Amino acid sequence: MTNSPDSQGGQHVEEVMQGAGFYNAHSRPQHAAGDFALPMLQDAVAALPVPVASEVFTAVDYGSSQGRNSMAPMKAVIEAVRGRTKSVTPVAVIHTDLPGNDFTSLFELLEHSPDSYRRGVPDVFALAAGESFYKQILPPAQVWLGHSSITVHWLSAAPSTIPGQIWSPRATGAVRSAFAERARQDWLAFLQARAVELRPGGRLVIVGSGANDSGNSGAESLVDLANSTLQALVSEGTLAQDEYEQMVIPTYYRTMAEFCAPFAAGPLAATLRLVKNAPAVLPDVLWQTYEQNRDTQGFAQAYADFFIAAYAPSLFGALDATRREQILAAFRQHLQQRIATDPQQAECRWQLILLAIEKRAA
Ligand SMILES: C[S@@+](CC[C@H](N)C(=O)[O-])C[C@H]1O[C@@H](n2cnc3c(N)ncnc32)[C@H](O)[C@@H]1O
Repeated sequence: MTNSPDSQGGQHVEEVMQGAGFYNAHSRPQHAAGDFALPMLQDAVAALPVPVASEVFTAVDYGSSQGRNSMAPMKAVIEAVRGRTKSVTPVAVIHTDLPGNDFTSLFELLEHSPDSYRRGVPDVFALAAGESFYKQILPPAQVWLGHSSITVHWLSAAPSTIPGQIWSPRATGAVRSAFAERARQDWLAFLQARAVELRPGGRLVIVGSGANDSGNSGAESLVDLANSTLQALVSEGTLAQDEYEQMVIPTYYRTMAEFCAPFAAGPLAATLRLVKNAPAVLPDVLWQTYEQNRDTQGFAQAYADFFIAAYAPSLFGALDATRREQILAAFRQHLQQRIATDPQQAECRWQLILLAIEKRAA
């Protein structure tokens, strides 16, 4: 379990994924989402100016987590670059995430996994930066290509808790507006920082976890199930009411219009150009496996682990370690049971927003 705090000064702050490699082991849906980036990354490299002589090509993977889902995208970038330069262009891959991220799992994977983009490939340098992507992370004009998959729905902080709910798609009225406003400001901050870091002509490929025009992310049913599981833990006395009331996942799922607004008007529109924007729906890989094997318990466990890998640090991070382990164990058991009783309730149709962005040449 990651030890990062859930709240600071009443603010529910940025969260990393469940540590010790747990996210790597339970992020098949995010892995599938990352596949959408591959053709976009190849297109982006094809559109870039070609690095000359021994010039270093710097690619940045913003919000890499434990790295399993970064291997294929970064491999695609390295191959595309070398395909263009027809030489062993040195490539620096910089993985960024929050300081509390499990970077150890990332570097172990890079060293030992057969999927590592470094395996058997010379002159590829893997580096990491533990800094929020809502700030400038790298010196100006260093980055040829930026990539970020399933990250920017994580807010710099949740503006508040949500009465009776744990995430923003279920927020209404002023609470929902506050999440939307935080998301607007965060997206501007993210883009402003990237606008500084990118070289002129450099590109950014984003696979965003977004919302359809009604504001739905596609996972409402699963998260409702998790919320009612927490409420059941309160009813049976396992979880205190005030502990439940503090729980909030600091995410917001932007619509296409919200993602695209900064490129239409305002100061960033002069620096960044939206090259491509497309919606997509993520096929549910866990459901597909269930349809093949009809293993209800396996499906329930896979979905409970997926939920815990992504959201347990946000929901349970503020509890002290012993209590956290107890409550997490009870939550896992109850959630798994509920999913097994009605597997379809866990099925997700995550809405993706795919963006290719270019820094305008000076
Ligand atoms: C769902 S994971 C996605 C990880 C990986 N890109 C993938 O496709 O599997 C979201 C990641 O975003 C990171 N993250 C959230 N807020 C962040 C921030 N402000 N700065 C940097 N990383 C952040 C989290 O720590 C987490 O590793």
